[in-house]
Amino acid sequence: MLGVEFPGAFLKRMAGLLGPAEFDAFLKSLTEGEAARGLRLNLAKLSPHEWAERSPWPLEPVPWCPFGYYYPHEARPGPHPYFFAGLYYIQEPSAMAVGEVLAPAPGERVIDLAAAPGGKTTHLATRMEGQGLLVANEVDSKRIRGLLDNVERWGARLAVVSAPVARLASAWGAFFDRVLLDAPCSGEGMMRRDPQVRAHWGPGAPGRMRRVQERLLEAAARLVRPGGVLVYATCTFAPEENEGVIAGFLRRNQEFDVQEARIHPSFAPGVPEWGGGDRRLARTARLWPHRLRGEGHYIARLVRLEGSPGTPSHHVPPPPKKAALRELERFWSDHVGRPLPEILWERDGHFYQLPDGLPELKGIRAPAPGIYLGAAKKGRFVPARALALALEAADAGPRIELSPDDPLSLKFALGEPVKVRGETGWHLVTTDGFPFGWGYLKGGVLRAKHARL
Ligand SMILES: C[S@@+](CC[C@H](N)C(=O)[O-])C[C@H]1O[C@@H](n2cnc3c(N)ncnc32)[C@H](O)[C@@H]1O
Repeated sequence: MLGVEFPGAFLKRMAGLLGPAEFDAFLKSLTEGEAARGLRLNLAKLSPHEWAERSPWPLEPVPWCPFGYYYPHEARPGPHPYFFAGLYYIQEPSAMAVGEVLAPAPGERVIDLAAAPGGKTTHLATRMEGQGLLVANEVDSKRIRGLLDNVERWGARLAVVSAPVARLASAWGAFFDRVLLDAPCSGEGMMRRDPQVRAHWGPGAPGRMRRVQERLLEAAARLVRPGGVLVYATCTFAPEENEGVIAGFLRRNQEFDVQEARIHPSFAPGVPEWGGGDRRLARTARLWPHRLRGEGHYIARLVRLEGSPGTPSHHVPPPPKKAALRELERFWSDHVGRPLPEILWERDGHFYQLPDGLPELKGIRAPAPGIYLGAAKKGRFVPARALALALEAADAGPRIELSPDDPLSLKFALGEPVKVRGETGWHLVTTDGFPFGWGYLKGGVLRAKHARL
């Protein structure tokens, strides 16, 4: 696969668009340059300064994201206890621009409409500092598990739903301050790092994707409150999926205008001629791999100037079953040193801590409508990993620390039993003081045990 060539039709089109000199630089970046690797810190767990004191790798800042870093090619941040403790998310550096352009603030209502595997969602959660409402939607049920795992490690209070964008728009209307459509696309910007993308690309892909993108963007726009912001992003170069989609949208939706997305001088302007000549397209951003350290991206920031706000009613969960609540309360009083959350939803013994102001979920599938706390089943409570990751060590009852330098910590994170000393029962397991799971200790063996959705 590694040897898969860049498709000829793709290169020919890019040569025509860029002209000889720029195309040379572009081609060189694809064929000789190496894809940059990045990680983005979880500021809810530690500050850049605290990270600098313990980072196992030398890092360099990503210029457009204050908590994003390049890591060296030989580093392996994936299989590391800090990864399992949710201290960072591994994210392609250009992709970090999207959350920065949307720039949600604490307390806002924010929705990420195409969220899996969760890169942008976790970024938005950091920006929101645990305040406000964050909803992550993913329509593809096969991609939900990955999204849940990533969101769970992040420890943020948000709702994961799974519905067609048009259904959300009909249910909730113009309710959100910030809406992100990180659209499915032909993925040309990822060709350098992913030979699969090169192998599967065909000249018809941009045209096909464009129709999907137009439909999704129209539906996404219906969720933006007057004065709210809609960001459209792709990881492709094809003008018809980028300037073309935005130009058509602006023609059809005159209550929207374009705001500046070039938040860093290395971002090039979108090209008005590639979208029928609308000058406002120059305020959209193109991230070119030959002009910065990152892959190809396109980002447009749109603002809704007028319209009527959506006012869906709040989701009011039914009262939990008494027996199940008793199990949760018993576990909580022995193992968690924080008050039990007030807004709880119990479904078939599974408990969730809902985010504030969640709109009505009737007719909308919600695989995790909030932080998953665990399951009360057959007279006992099994805690969820998401609960462990949403806690701080200071909140813990019985706790076992496995140092990140001790191979046992990675073993535990990967679900293998480990030998430790301690009292029989549930323990919050931490690494370097950061929770990364629950373990049940019996006979000197600690087993990772978690309720599953
Ligand atoms: C570029 S990826 C999203 C990446 C994600 N935002 C991140 O940062 O990790 C595009 C997503 O759109 C979803 N998608 C594909 N077709 C869709 C459709 N018709 N409606 C909504 N989402 C769709 C895909 O399942 C995929 O998760």
